[in-house]
Amino acid sequence: MSPVRGGVRICARGHEIGLRASATIRTIGVLPSAARDAEASDTEVWREASGFRTVPRDGRRSDTRRRIDMPLVSMRQLLDEAAKGGYGVGAFNVNDMEQIQAIMEAAKETNSPVIIQASRGARQFAQDRYLYHLILAASELYPEIPIAMHQDHGNSFETCKSAIELGFTSVMMDGSLKDDGKTPTTFEENVDVTRRVVEFAHERGITVEGEIGVLGGVEDGHGAGGSGLEHLTDPDQAVEFAERTGVDALALAIGTSHGAYKFSKKPDGSVLKMDLLIEIHKRLPKTHLVMHGSSSVPQDLQDVVNQFGGKLKPTWGVPVEEIQLGIRNGVRKINVDTDNRLAITGAIRKVLWESPEKFDPRDYMKPARDAMKKVVAQRMTQFGQAGHAGDYKPISIEAMAKGYKDGTLSTRPLVASR
Ligand code: G3H
Ligand code: 13P
Ligand code: ZN
Repeated sequence: MSPVRGGVRICARGHEIGLRASATIRTIGVLPSAARDAEASDTEVWREASGFRTVPRDGRRSDTRRRIDMPLVSMRQLLDEAAKGGYGVGAFNVNDMEQIQAIMEAAKETNSPVIIQASRGARQFAQDRYLYHLILAASELYPEIPIAMHQDHGNSFETCKSAIELGFTSVMMDGSLKDDGKTPTTFEENVDVTRRVVEFAHERGITVEGEIGVLGGVEDGHGAGGSGLEHLTDPDQAVEFAERTGVDALALAIGTSHGAYKFSKKPDGSVLKMDLLIEIHKRLPKTHLVMHGSSSVPQDLQDVVNQFGGKLKPTWGVPVEEIQLGIRNGVRKINVDTDNRLAITGAIRKVLWESPEKFDPRDYMKPARDAMKKVVAQRMTQFGQAGHAGDYKPISIEAMAKGYKDGTLSTRPLVASR
């Protein structure tokens, strides 16, 4: 337990904690130097503050700290609210500052709650602490937008643990594959590792997404390959998995795959199994369902890439109307990465193709960021999350932990039928 000074609980670095400020951002004083030297990480400061983040003013190392009213929220809260409102929330992958900026600008324009997710590859590429602090900067700059920070496709207990210790408010334990990220696991192996992550995460107020069935495709070395039809989710297993693990959200394999090459023509029910999703929703009406591999790979984004020297082969993604059908049937989180990659690459190719004399990265990074913002804003509107950023007050991560402990935040699904 943290020491108490003058009636105020103080964390290891000397910050006041657990007080709610009415002002969005306010200075809360000067840290005593002894506290400054204390052996607490930024993550601990943030976590101990029960959802209030304290960040150096102007990004510089400074004794004066600010507190921000809108904490990073748990993904569970975002999804619970989405279920109440009958909409879906896009989960967009990031690897760098410009992608985070694009998402936040889109969220501001559409007044949307946000899930920002980083894969293992992204954490490695960016060095995850950079990502963590960039997302904190986003929450400082856009205090009115609830943001959940999510580990995409965690491959092991250790990956999820390290994400939680860094400050992610949500993790995916993708136990559908072994920790090599390639080989499908058995059902029992998946249940076992996912249940261990749920136990660790919920004690700390952190959300867990699991996966049952295996997606197709390979991205950055992750994935079982194939078309996505080889390991479709079995509805009986989905029910048993949700009951035995207590996950907050469940990713299904319904024929989608990661990357640009999902379908060789506009998908119909023979390759995109929306009926399977609808059946699982009927069996698990209270479980938040997740659609991975949900880029639509629109022709216009493909065209820009190819017009300026790219060599994409003809391909189809998941039509937005199918995602909207999913949202009407329990889908609350929709993962999109490839569409943003295409938008960014097309914009950069265009500048370099049309103006080969240019070499200032800002000349192509700005159009790239704008192109991604446009795609994200469009998806936020199509998924229905637009307009919902201000609907609710953030629940602190500490309160979420309490809710899991005392059972008020139930995770065992309501099973409609067997
Ligand atoms: O899971 C798929 C996402 O598109 C992330 O891909 O592992 O290449 O970062 P990545
Ligand atoms: P896409 O490759 O379709 O964008 O899917 C992204 C995804 O599922 C990330 O987990
Ligand atoms: Zn995925």
